Amino acid sequence: MEEPKKRILSGIKPTGTLNLGGYLGAAKNWVALQNEFDCFYFIADLHAITIRINPAQLRKQAKELYALYIACGLDPEKNTIFFQSHVHQHAELAWVLDCYTMFGELSRMTQFKDKSAKNADNINAGLFTYPSLMAADILLYQADLVPVGEDQTQHVEICRDIANRFNNLYGEVFRLPEGYVPKVGARIKSLVNPMQKMSKSEQDPNGTVNLLDRRDDVIRKFKKAVTDSGSEILYTEDKPGIKNLMTIYSAVNGKTFEEIEREFDGKGYGDFKLAVGESVADLLSGIQEKYTQISEDKTYLENLWRGSAEKASYIANKTLRKVYKKIGFVEK
Ligand code: TYM
Repeated sequence: MEEPKKRILSGIKPTGTLNLGGYLGAAKNWVALQNEFDCFYFIADLHAITIRINPAQLRKQAKELYALYIACGLDPEKNTIFFQSHVHQHAELAWVLDCYTMFGELSRMTQFKDKSAKNADNINAGLFTYPSLMAADILLYQADLVPVGEDQTQHVEICRDIANRFNNLYGEVFRLPEGYVPKVGARIKSLVNPMQKMSKSEQDPNGTVNLLDRRDDVIRKFKKAVTDSGSEILYTEDKPGIKNLMTIYSAVNGKTFEEIEREFDGKGYGDFKLAVGESVADLLSGIQEKYTQISEDKTYLENLWRGSAEKASYIANKTLRKVYKKIGFVEK
């Protein structure tokens, strides 16, 4: 008999337009894995409200991200693509897991420390317990693999710790997931500050390349990208700007760092930055064309997300019922 496919789950917050970091660190890998695995991908809208966000903007960005998942190459026939808020089991399991997650371990989360430093006037409880909601997302589907960028690996680790703690008390309820980060592109840096990650919350718009940016803006941003002293195109630690651009170039066209060094031997930063900009702009133009096509068919998208939420709920519910039973809740 054929082995059942292993399961994958991942999500992105609709707190801005999907950028090159999220694409190269996560979404690109999702596309590569879709034939081999049983995949669940969602729009992490529950996670998005840990930061204040205008309701109309949240709705717009969430729908945009949904269409972008498909435009990036996720086949809706092969993947279950849904909104987190459409599957109420996420919030329910998150509460249960909150009661099995320790204050001390949440306090050690790098992302919590970073985000609370940046949003000092809104350090809400949701920001603090964010990792147990993320653990619920993963554990509800008994996921084997969680493809994410490097900044999320600590959250996958705490998810395993929570699952282990729960399993030790109640038996094998949850499958232990593994994080899956790409070899190249797991940590794309800002174009204006190569010591910082490219992020949706970055203040300077020139640091981030969004998937829906216009071609000339993309090229302009790369031309202006901060580079290092010297003039050679080399992949070394003391050239963080060039290293970041080489990473992007390699992730986009599959060339190795040695091949890139050879390609630009004797050429300057200007030529290199232009080549990276053009290769990214070419990649994005394909995604954007598909995005425009898909977003036009609102009925198709609505039917898709409804059906997917039903499928996701069915699986999530099985896990949640099991959890409720194990912890001693009375059955309906
Ligand atoms: P989010 O929305 O911040 O980022 C989405 C995905 O993109 C990756 N990523 C990057 N990778 C490389 N370089 C970058 N500069 C970069 N910026 C972002 C992130 O690592 C992530 O994989 N908590 C998650 C969303 C989430 C989730 C989940 C993920 C909620 N529940 C369950 C996996 C499983 C987040 O905020 O991602």
